[in-house]
Amino acid sequence: MAPGTHHRASTLVAPKQVPTAKASRLPLPAYMLHSLAHVELNAVDLAWDTVARFAAAPLPRAFFLDFARVADDESRHLLWCLQRLGELGHAYGDMPAHSVLWEGAQASAGDVGSRLAVVPMSQEARGLDAGPRLVDRLVGLGDARSAAIVRRIAQEETAHVAVGVVWFRGVCAALGADPGHAFRATICTLCPDVLRGPFEAGARAQVGLPPEWYDPGCWPEGERERLAEALRARKEGALDGRTAAEVQGGGRGDTARGPQTALFSSTLQDAENLGALRARLEHFVAGETARAAPASAA
Ligand SMILES: [Fe+2]
Ligand SMILES: [Fe+2]
Repeated sequence: MAPGTHHRASTLVAPKQVPTAKASRLPLPAYMLHSLAHVELNAVDLAWDTVARFAAAPLPRAFFLDFARVADDESRHLLWCLQRLGELGHAYGDMPAHSVLWEGAQASAGDVGSRLAVVPMSQEARGLDAGPRLVDRLVGLGDARSAAIVRRIAQEETAHVAVGVVWFRGVCAALGADPGHAFRATICTLCPDVLRGPFEAGARAQVGLPPEWYDPGCWPEGERERLAEALRARKEGALDGRTAAEVQGGGRGDTARGPQTALFSSTLQDAENLGALRARLEHFVAGETARAAPASAA
């Protein structure tokens, strides 16, 4: 950011109170770039939060390097959006924004498996679905420069989802958990409304996300019913300000650590398991690196 440049913060409002493009009075390309700048700003905070929050977790150094690189990418994406907004005569803060992404960070603060499932594998995976549509709309509006910026951002986002998937598989392998079941159970408990289509199945498959994980239409029947129940609970909870996890668990839980999912919390909180877990995770990472080596050398 250039010295002397001032960017004010956006006012945060409930998602339904974020103005439509028409009500915002911003031209459509500026409206889209403002929304994307807000996503990127949250993504910077989320990536650093993952690095800092799980600093004491039994994770190899490569985990923290991966998320520091993600934070670096997100900072660059934010600057591209701010620069283009400026070229269009607008700035971040010209309209209100919502805090849904940060709520995902709070919901998944309890353990690293939940964080990976909610943030890179669900929130960021939405970018794989929405990115190409956003590019097409900007091209249709005749704004080739904004379209090129968004195209480049969307390309780089695929790596962020892939980083999330690889580490999630690693954590599940180290815990001896089935990753598909673990993903579905975690989302169902913490963020049941994050899995919304339409899904770009091809882009998701490329980063290792099978539809049996993210598309409730492909879930086993019992798990699909639990998701419907969680969504009902979330609707009820919205009436009195509670999250789905709080409604299902019957209480507010430990707000400093975030809600706990039964699957990850018992093992990840047990100090006796931590050394063994780190060793298994390092073993998994070594295997992944060996598998990736021939492809990257090509
Ligand atoms: Fe980004
Ligand atoms: Fe990202």
